[in-house]
Amino acid sequence: MSAAPARLVVLVSGAGTNLQALLDACADPAYGAQVVAVGADRDDIEGLARAERAGVPTFVVRVKDYTSREHWDGALTDKVSAFEPDLVVLAGFMKLVGASYLPALGRITVNTHPALSPSFPGMHGPRDALEYGVKVTGCTLFVVDDGVDTGAIVAQTTVPVEDDDTVESLHERIKVGERAMLVETVGRMAREGWTVDGRRVRLGG
Ligand code: GAR
Repeated sequence: MSAAPARLVVLVSGAGTNLQALLDACADPAYGAQVVAVGADRDDIEGLARAERAGVPTFVVRVKDYTSREHWDGALTDKVSAFEPDLVVLAGFMKLVGASYLPALGRITVNTHPALSPSFPGMHGPRDALEYGVKVTGCTLFVVDDGVDTGAIVAQTTVPVEDDDTVESLHERIKVGERAMLVETVGRMAREGWTVDGRRVRLGG
Protein backbone atom coordinates (compact mmCIF):
# COMPACT_ATOMS: atom_id res chain seq x y z
CA MET A 1 0.00 0.00 0.00
CA SER A 2 1.40 3.44 -0.87
CA ALA A 3 1.84 6.11 1.82
CA ALA A 4 -0.71 8.92 2.09
CA PRO A 5 0.33 11.99 0.08
CA ALA A 6 2.18 14.65 2.06
CA ARG A 7 -0.08 17.55 3.06
CA LEU A 8 1.12 20.87 1.59
CA VAL A 9 -0.08 24.31 2.60
CA VAL A 10 1.08 26.99 0.15
CA LEU A 11 1.20 30.71 1.04
CA VAL A 12 1.09 33.32 -1.75
CA SER A 13 0.88 37.09 -2.24
CA GLY A 14 0.57 37.48 -6.00
CA ALA A 15 0.39 35.76 -9.38
CA GLY A 16 0.88 32.27 -7.99
CA THR A 17 2.71 30.71 -10.93
CA ASN A 18 4.85 28.70 -8.51
CA LEU A 19 1.67 27.56 -6.76
CA GLN A 20 0.23 26.55 -10.14
CA ALA A 21 3.29 24.43 -10.86
CA LEU A 22 2.77 22.62 -7.56
CA LEU A 23 -0.97 22.19 -8.19
CA ASP A 24 -0.22 20.71 -11.60
CA ALA A 25 2.42 18.35 -10.17
CA CYS A 26 0.09 17.21 -7.39
CA ALA A 27 -2.49 16.10 -9.96
CA ASP A 28 -0.29 13.02 -10.48
CA PRO A 29 -0.72 10.62 -7.53
CA ALA A 30 2.88 9.47 -8.03
CA TYR A 31 4.07 12.95 -7.04
CA GLY A 32 3.33 12.07 -3.42
CA ALA A 33 1.87 15.38 -2.26
CA GLN A 34 -1.44 17.18 -2.16
CA VAL A 35 -2.11 20.91 -1.70
CA VAL A 36 -4.62 20.92 1.17
CA ALA A 37 -4.91 24.72 1.49
CA VAL A 38 -3.66 27.98 0.01
CA GLY A 39 -3.30 31.04 2.22
CA ALA A 40 -2.59 34.67 1.41
CA ASP A 41 -1.93 37.97 3.15
CA ARG A 42 -4.21 39.84 0.74
CA ASP A 43 -7.47 39.42 -1.22
CA ASP A 44 -8.10 39.48 -4.94
CA ILE A 45 -4.91 37.93 -6.19
CA GLU A 46 -4.47 35.44 -8.98
CA GLY A 47 -2.82 33.01 -6.58
CA LEU A 48 -6.09 32.60 -4.67
CA ALA A 49 -8.06 32.32 -7.91
CA ARG A 50 -5.77 29.51 -9.04
CA ALA A 51 -6.47 27.63 -5.80
CA GLU A 52 -10.21 28.15 -6.14
CA ARG A 53 -10.17 26.87 -9.72
CA ALA A 54 -8.34 23.77 -8.47
CA GLY A 55 -10.95 23.24 -5.74
CA VAL A 56 -8.42 23.85 -2.95
CA PRO A 57 -9.60 25.61 0.26
CA THR A 58 -8.24 29.13 0.72
CA PHE A 59 -7.82 31.57 3.59
CA VAL A 60 -6.69 35.18 3.89
CA VAL A 61 -4.93 36.67 6.92
CA ARG A 62 -4.37 40.43 6.40
CA VAL A 63 -2.01 42.40 8.63
CA LYS A 64 -4.43 45.33 8.71
CA ASP A 65 -7.13 43.20 10.36
CA TYR A 66 -4.97 42.70 13.49
CA THR A 67 -3.89 45.11 16.21
CA SER A 68 -0.23 44.17 15.83
CA ARG A 69 2.12 42.24 13.62
CA GLU A 70 2.49 39.71 16.46
CA HIS A 71 -1.25 39.06 16.51
CA TRP A 72 -1.24 38.65 12.75
CA ASP A 73 1.62 36.17 13.02
CA GLY A 74 -0.31 34.21 15.66
CA ALA A 75 -3.43 34.12 13.50
CA LEU A 76 -1.44 32.96 10.48
CA THR A 77 0.15 30.22 12.59
CA ASP A 78 -3.28 29.02 13.76
CA LYS A 79 -4.75 29.05 10.24
CA VAL A 80 -1.86 27.10 8.73
CA SER A 81 -1.65 24.65 11.66
CA ALA A 82 -5.36 23.83 11.36
CA PHE A 83 -4.62 22.11 8.04
CA GLU A 84 -2.05 19.83 9.71
CA PRO A 85 0.61 20.32 7.04
CA ASP A 86 3.60 18.07 6.53
CA LEU A 87 5.25 20.90 4.58
CA VAL A 88 4.43 24.60 4.13
CA VAL A 89 5.66 26.32 0.97
CA LEU A 90 6.03 30.10 0.87
CA ALA A 91 5.69 30.67 -2.88
CA GLY A 92 5.94 34.41 -3.44
CA PHE A 93 4.62 35.17 0.05
CA MET A 94 5.77 38.73 0.70
CA LYS A 95 5.73 38.72 4.49
CA LEU A 96 8.23 37.59 7.11
CA VAL A 97 6.87 35.02 9.54
CA GLY A 98 7.65 35.64 13.19
CA ALA A 99 7.73 34.69 16.85
CA SER A 100 4.61 32.49 16.92
CA TYR A 101 5.09 30.95 13.50
CA LEU A 102 8.72 29.90 13.67
CA PRO A 103 8.63 27.61 16.72
CA ALA A 104 5.38 26.02 15.55
CA LEU A 105 5.99 25.61 11.83
CA GLY A 106 9.46 26.91 10.91
CA ARG A 107 10.99 23.44 10.80
CA ILE A 108 8.56 22.36 8.06
CA THR A 109 8.39 25.64 6.10
CA VAL A 110 10.39 26.39 2.97
CA ASN A 111 10.54 29.65 1.06
CA THR A 112 11.54 30.28 -2.53
CA HIS A 113 13.66 33.34 -3.30
CA PRO A 114 14.54 34.68 -6.79
CA ALA A 115 18.30 34.98 -6.25
CA LEU A 116 21.26 32.76 -5.37
CA SER A 117 21.55 33.05 -1.59
CA PRO A 118 23.41 34.45 0.21
CA SER A 119 23.48 37.13 -2.53
CA PHE A 120 20.66 39.63 -2.95
CA PRO A 121 18.23 38.85 -0.09
CA GLY A 122 14.98 40.78 0.31
CA MET A 123 12.13 41.90 -1.88
CA HIS A 124 14.10 42.80 -5.03
CA GLY A 125 16.40 39.88 -5.80
CA PRO A 126 16.23 40.16 -9.63
CA ARG A 127 16.62 43.96 -9.62
CA ASP A 128 19.54 43.87 -7.21
CA ALA A 129 21.33 41.15 -9.19
CA LEU A 130 20.87 43.09 -12.45
CA GLU A 131 22.10 46.34 -10.89
CA TYR A 132 25.15 44.59 -9.43
CA GLY A 133 26.04 43.28 -12.89
CA VAL A 134 26.31 39.58 -12.09
CA LYS A 135 26.39 37.26 -15.12
CA VAL A 136 24.71 34.36 -13.33
CA THR A 137 21.85 34.48 -10.86
CA GLY A 138 19.05 32.06 -10.02
CA CYS A 139 16.78 30.97 -7.24
CA THR A 140 17.04 29.38 -3.81
CA LEU A 141 14.72 27.17 -1.80
CA PHE A 142 15.48 27.40 1.92
CA VAL A 143 14.06 26.46 5.31
CA VAL A 144 12.69 29.62 6.93
CA ASP A 145 14.42 31.08 9.95
CA ASP A 146 14.25 34.45 11.68
CA GLY A 147 16.37 36.24 9.08
CA VAL A 148 15.57 37.62 5.64
CA ASP A 149 16.25 34.82 3.14
CA THR A 150 18.99 33.42 5.40
CA GLY A 151 17.71 29.90 6.19
CA ALA A 152 19.44 26.61 5.44
CA ILE A 153 19.49 25.97 1.69
CA VAL A 154 17.49 23.04 0.30
CA ALA A 155 18.05 23.63 -3.44
CA GLN A 156 19.39 26.21 -5.89
CA THR A 157 19.17 26.66 -9.65
CA THR A 158 21.32 28.98 -11.77
CA VAL A 159 20.08 31.23 -14.56
CA PRO A 160 22.20 33.36 -16.93
CA VAL A 161 21.84 37.14 -17.03
CA GLU A 162 21.63 38.39 -20.64
CA ASP A 163 23.07 41.73 -21.80
CA ASP A 164 19.67 43.13 -22.75
CA ASP A 165 17.79 41.90 -19.68
CA THR A 166 15.32 44.10 -17.86
CA VAL A 167 14.25 43.33 -14.30
CA GLU A 168 11.09 41.81 -15.75
CA SER A 169 12.78 39.61 -18.37
CA LEU A 170 15.34 38.41 -15.84
CA HIS A 171 12.70 37.64 -13.23
CA GLU A 172 10.62 35.71 -15.79
CA ARG A 173 13.68 33.59 -16.71
CA ILE A 174 14.39 32.98 -13.02
CA LYS A 175 10.77 31.95 -12.46
CA VAL A 176 11.00 29.26 -15.15
CA GLY A 177 13.92 27.72 -13.26
CA GLU A 178 12.24 28.38 -9.93
CA ARG A 179 9.07 26.46 -10.82
CA ALA A 180 11.11 23.44 -11.94
CA MET A 181 13.26 23.60 -8.79
CA LEU A 182 10.21 23.86 -6.58
CA VAL A 183 8.34 20.97 -8.18
CA GLU A 184 11.40 18.72 -8.15
CA THR A 185 12.48 19.54 -4.59
CA VAL A 186 9.08 19.65 -2.89
CA GLY A 187 8.26 16.29 -4.51
CA ARG A 188 11.45 14.77 -3.14
CA MET A 189 10.83 16.25 0.31
CA ALA A 190 7.32 14.80 0.26
CA ARG A 191 8.37 11.35 -0.93
CA GLU A 192 11.76 10.93 0.71
CA GLY A 193 11.79 13.29 3.70
CA TRP A 194 14.69 15.55 4.66
CA THR A 195 17.08 16.30 7.47
CA VAL A 196 18.61 19.59 8.59
CA ASP A 197 22.00 19.49 10.31
CA GLY A 198 23.06 23.05 11.03
CA ARG A 199 23.13 24.70 7.63
CA ARG A 200 23.31 21.39 5.74
CA VAL A 201 20.04 20.09 4.35
CA ARG A 202 19.87 16.56 2.97
CA LEU A 203 17.00 15.07 1.03
CA GLY A 204 16.12 11.45 1.67
CA GLY A 205 16.55 9.20 4.67
C1 GAR B 1 8.84 34.34 -7.17
O1 GAR B 1 9.87 34.66 -8.05
C2 GAR B 1 9.35 34.27 -5.75
O2 GAR B 1 10.64 33.79 -5.64
C3 GAR B 1 9.30 35.72 -5.35
O3 GAR B 1 8.09 36.17 -5.87
C4 GAR B 1 7.81 35.47 -7.08
C5 GAR B 1 6.40 34.97 -7.01
O4 GAR B 1 5.95 34.54 -8.26
N1 GAR B 1 9.38 35.85 -3.94
C6 GAR B 1 10.09 36.79 -3.34
O5 GAR B 1 10.68 37.68 -3.92
C7 GAR B 1 10.06 36.72 -1.82
N2 GAR B 1 11.12 37.51 -1.27
P1 GAR B 1 4.56 33.78 -8.41
O6 GAR B 1 3.53 34.54 -7.58
O7 GAR B 1 4.25 33.83 -9.86
O8 GAR B 1 4.76 32.38 -7.92
